[in-house]
Amino acid sequence: MSDQLKVFVTREIPAAGLDKVTSGSDAEVWREPLPPSREVLLQKVQGCHGLLTLLTEKVDAELFDAAGPQLKVVSNFAVGYNNIDIEEATRRGIKVGNTPNVLTDATADMAMALMLAAGRRIVEGQDYIRDKKWKTWEPLGHIGADLWERTVGIVGMGRIGSAFARRCHGGWNMRVLYHNTSPNEQVEKELGAQLVDMDTLLAESDFVSVHANMNPDTVGMFNAEAFKKMKSTAVFVNTSRGPLVDQKALYDALKNGEIFAAGLDVTDPEPIPLDDPLLTLSNCVIAPHIASGTLSSRNAMAEIAADNLLQGIAGQPLRCWVNQGS
Ligand code: GLV
Repeated sequence: MSDQLKVFVTREIPAAGLDKVTSGSDAEVWREPLPPSREVLLQKVQGCHGLLTLLTEKVDAELFDAAGPQLKVVSNFAVGYNNIDIEEATRRGIKVGNTPNVLTDATADMAMALMLAAGRRIVEGQDYIRDKKWKTWEPLGHIGADLWERTVGIVGMGRIGSAFARRCHGGWNMRVLYHNTSPNEQVEKELGAQLVDMDTLLAESDFVSVHANMNPDTVGMFNAEAFKKMKSTAVFVNTSRGPLVDQKALYDALKNGEIFAAGLDVTDPEPIPLDDPLLTLSNCVIAPHIASGTLSSRNAMAEIAADNLLQGIAGQPLRCWVNQGS
């Protein structure tokens, strides 16, 4: 019998991290493409010292109880950790780790990709071809949004928001407005970004991109009222979390021409149900939550998640420690 500490890994992650985990612990890896059911998860965590989880797993008091008092660490394979009850983990002395920084550029790139795809109607154009509708070059057809020297409004100016702002300003000389809980002096100095209230951001931006955390203050912040305040030519992009957006309101805004187009990497719920009306709109581009999906990002996330897990079970400080000192 192994004298290594027991861990459960809720999905196969890149070998760059998984190999470390399997050689440094007594690991059971859930290798199915779909997540374990709640019932199976609660059973698999029993007796574990560490868990490596994804956003698909709800990590809460019930799960901590099922695992038992020896549980020392939950290492989330994501920068976000809205799936974890941090307060409860902290109360029980369980360390929580995440994977920041290494997906900043990949996520900012995804926001760019969605902004361009939605603004320049790329997916709609491809569908047009596939539907055999392309008969000739059309001077009046497929007219999209201009980017050069337009205004971008960034909601949440943290690492990813800043990386997106740099791309918009450096690539298209855009004026950058932002809304954030506190001023970001770096982007103000570097890009001339201006901190504004939400109403100003919504009214003046040609592109609105969401990079805020999900929390009680941000859930549902993009509602019917918010979309009504935006320009009818505006492109809306969300690469943060689906629940920040009222999807029904977004549908109405897109359908009624209150805004021009949207690009989403995240929805609520995920996967988006196949009968969701957003899927019927040609001016809405939706990706299946793939913003961190580049080789180097996912490998680096796996390495950090593995380090967090192994450090946690060894009782050491985590490389990326969410509830440090709390
Ligand atoms: C993905 O959404 C992440 O939080 O890493």
